[in-house]
Amino acid sequence: MRNSILMFVILLGFSISIMGWTWYPQDKPDQPETLPLVPMMQQLLDDIQQVDRGIYTENFAMIEEGAGNISHHPTMTVEDKKLVKKTLGEEMKQFVKFDKVVHHHADSMRMAAVEENMQKVLKHYRITQQGCVDCHSNYRDPISTARIKDN
Ligand code: HEC
Repeated sequence: MRNSILMFVILLGFSISIMGWTWYPQDKPDQPETLPLVPMMQQLLDDIQQVDRGIYTENFAMIEEGAGNISHHPTMTVEDKKLVKKTLGEEMKQFVKFDKVVHHHADSMRMAAVEENMQKVLKHYRITQQGCVDCHSNYRDPISTARIKDN
């Protein structure tokens, strides 16, 4: 009898702690701070697709979240930074400029979504998209090739 009461108390304590653990999400950041370039890019694709979905369904909260994730995207890992620097040399400046365009206009897009101003969202969407594509047309191939050689 004593044993079963003890067992009950232990189980109760255990379930309560499990419940607390699942009910209260830990304070973990939404995104990691650094990521290798390719998974980071795949995440940017998910984010911009979320923005797209928000635009066509007029869901401003969705746009706000996707754009916010783009503007706060993780930075490259140290190894990838080295690879990019080695591959691009002086061109690194231009690479950084394209990245800044994306950060800046994704953030303006997020703010336009907060204001629920679709015209403004689109204006900054186009500039963001141009930033993604400009960087790709100039640097995607060389960096991708350097990565393959590096491995
Ligand atoms: C400053 C440069 C730069 C910007 C800005 C940039 N990218 Fe990229 N992206 C790259 C490079 C470099 C690669 C190739 C990486 C490799 O293969 O090593 C790449 C590759 C990709 C890929 C292919 C990943 C794969 O599976 O091989 C996707 C998708 C992508 N980018 C999406 C985006 C989106 C969406 C944006 C804008 C929101 C964006 N990128 C902005 C540099 C950039």
